[in-house]
Amino acid sequence: MRSFPGATRGGDDDPNAMRCAVIIPAAGSGTRFGGDLPKQFLPLGGRPLIAHTIGRFHRHPSVERIVVCVSPDHLATMQEIADHFRWGNVKIVRGGESRQESVLRGADSLVRGGLGDDSIVAAHDAVRPFVPADLLDRLLEALAHADGAVPATMPTDTIHRIDGGVVVETPDRSLLAAAQTPQCFRLGVLQSALARAIEEGWPATDEAAAVARCGYRVRVIEGDPRNIKITRPVDFESAVRELANWSDE
Ligand code: C5P
Repeated sequence: MRSFPGATRGGDDDPNAMRCAVIIPAAGSGTRFGGDLPKQFLPLGGRPLIAHTIGRFHRHPSVERIVVCVSPDHLATMQEIADHFRWGNVKIVRGGESRQESVLRGADSLVRGGLGDDSIVAAHDAVRPFVPADLLDRLLEALAHADGAVPATMPTDTIHRIDGGVVVETPDRSLLAAAQTPQCFRLGVLQSALARAIEEGWPATDEAAAVARCGYRVRVIEGDPRNIKITRPVDFESAVRELANWSDE
């Protein structure tokens, strides 16, 4: 695979577009829907859910390469999907035991492929197929002024901290943000933060948590309500309805 400088500007369609690589962790067992196939491989509108997600990035002018991290059991399934869609710039690697390990393996593979510490990388959940192109544009812009950039929505529900089914604390809602993906970082920052999180056993359900805990400045920008994470059967029903609003040219 050819190497390219990650932090440059340029592109075939938009001369001002930032270049980035994308890591898609997809090694979760996702047994919440029952059945053998993890939800990222279930069909949505006639193609696997993950194919919608990857396709969205594959068509984005700023995205130069994509790494998908899958469990050893699904390497062949993922390869079949990539072959079917003729995605030349999609690399498939083995994921790890945790999301953090999967993303780190993706990052390591980008380094092996020639990317440097300053290259820009976006980590994105396999199960968020409705990522608008302008969201990635806004994140790349925000990254110019911070060590990380993540999208989030402001919760409209009140969020309680609970213990044993009982409310123990109610944080000020105006100080809370519900993080989405893609989450953008410089490759070196992401790699070192994830390595430290794994070594020190930090619980982190997204990349921003580890990067911020290392002392880096992670900027939060406005997320998109359409950018849903498909985790429950009811989300799948919403996704089927939402699909009608998206074109897959
Ligand atoms: O745990 P959660 O559902 O938030 O997982 C988010 C993403 O991380 C999913 O796309 C899932 O496939 C991925 N993941 C992974 N490796 C693991 C566990 C989860 O790539 N070991």
